[in-house]
Amino acid sequence: MASSFFFTTLLLLAVIPAVIPCPPSERAALLAFKAALTEPYLGIFNSWTGTNCCQGWYGVACHPTSGHVTDINLRGESQDPIFQKLGRSGYMTGKLSPEVCNLGNLTTLVVADWKAIAGEIPACITSLFSLQILDLTGNQIAGKIPTDIGNLQNIVVLSLSDNKISREIPSSLVNLVRLMHLDLSNNQLAGELPYNFGKLTMLSRVLLSGNQLTGSIPKSVAKMNRLADLDISSNRLTGLIPTELGKMKVLSTLKLDCNSMMGQVPSTLLSNTGMGILNLSRNGFSGTIPDVFCANSYFMVLDLSFNNLSGRIPNSLSASKFMGHLDLSYNHLCGTIPIGTPFDHLDAASFSNNDCLCGNPLKAC
Ligand SMILES: *[C@@H]1O[C@H](CO)[C@@H](O)[C@H](O)[C@H]1NC(C)=O
Ligand SMILES: *[C@@H]1O[C@H](CO)[C@@H](O)[C@H](O)[C@H]1NC(C)=O
Ligand SMILES: *[C@@H]1O[C@H](CO)[C@@H](O)[C@H](O)[C@H]1NC(C)=O
Repeated sequence: MASSFFFTTLLLLAVIPAVIPCPPSERAALLAFKAALTEPYLGIFNSWTGTNCCQGWYGVACHPTSGHVTDINLRGESQDPIFQKLGRSGYMTGKLSPEVCNLGNLTTLVVADWKAIAGEIPACITSLFSLQILDLTGNQIAGKIPTDIGNLQNIVVLSLSDNKISREIPSSLVNLVRLMHLDLSNNQLAGELPYNFGKLTMLSRVLLSGNQLTGSIPKSVAKMNRLADLDISSNRLTGLIPTELGKMKVLSTLKLDCNSMMGQVPSTLLSNTGMGILNLSRNGFSGTIPDVFCANSYFMVLDLSFNNLSGRIPNSLSASKFMGHLDLSYNHLCGTIPIGTPFDHLDAASFSNNDCLCGNPLKAC
């Protein structure tokens, strides 16, 4: 008896999604969203027809019992059969209709990699309080990040990379206390990072490369104690690397290449045995390379090329456990290249264009 009730319940739950139709207002919002876009090749919107938008509409999902639209998930790079059959990736023009803001229960809005969707991010999007994933990567979206983006208190993933978004990063961004993944790379963002950026303590990946960000890295970043991956390469950053960055527990990838930073490379950064990928190439770092490597140093990438480093290559570097890709070229280093296992596989390019380095793999001293 109990088990037959259980199975009936299961059956009902399985059937309900098709039975509960979406509210007409939400269907209307989706149709307006569709009308503002043109997808000429795959025909993904051909399925957006009929009264129940919870049933068979490509990329749309609804709450199983209330019928509210919870997900719009449209990716232009996808394994979906619709893409495989035509052997091409997605292409769409048009813009994001502000009508999408009428989907008050939306948790996921992914409209990514369609190459040609233009226009701006509708400002009203910040009223979608349930939103957890906003991914608009790989389009031509311009304009600014909505000023009150900080209202999206439930957001976990914010990915706006590879667009044409400009202006400054809004100061309200630091209120997104649940944010774990922030990707704004390859846009035209200018101005400085908020001084209190470190309030975003849930962040594990911060990707901001390929913008026009100025100013220095806020010290508060060191408070992000889950941060594993920080990429601010190819910007216009100045100033020093905060020494606190070297003490971050889980930071393993730090890319600051192609900026205008200067000062010493903090010894904490090189002695941090969790650090695996460090690219500081093409900046104005000066002074000597701190002699702080150890048997637990394990670098997949250590790229310090195109800086103003001087002095000798520290002997401790040859004691490291692993040195996958080392690049010290285009500096002002001098003296004998240390001998040791981590150096055996490196070729001359790793050391070229310094003032007076010598020894294997360069010419003998
Ligand atoms: C939908 O949103 C309304 C208003 O924001 C809220 O009261 C309701 O609980 C939500 N429903 C679901 C299924 O999330
Ligand atoms: C480090 O950054 C420079 C400059 O952006 C780039 O050319 C180089 O390939 C990077 N190094 C590695 C090992 O990825
Ligand atoms: C390079 O470093 C030297 C001292 O180590 C300093 O005198 C010089 O100004 C630096 N050059 C640049 C371009 O930063």
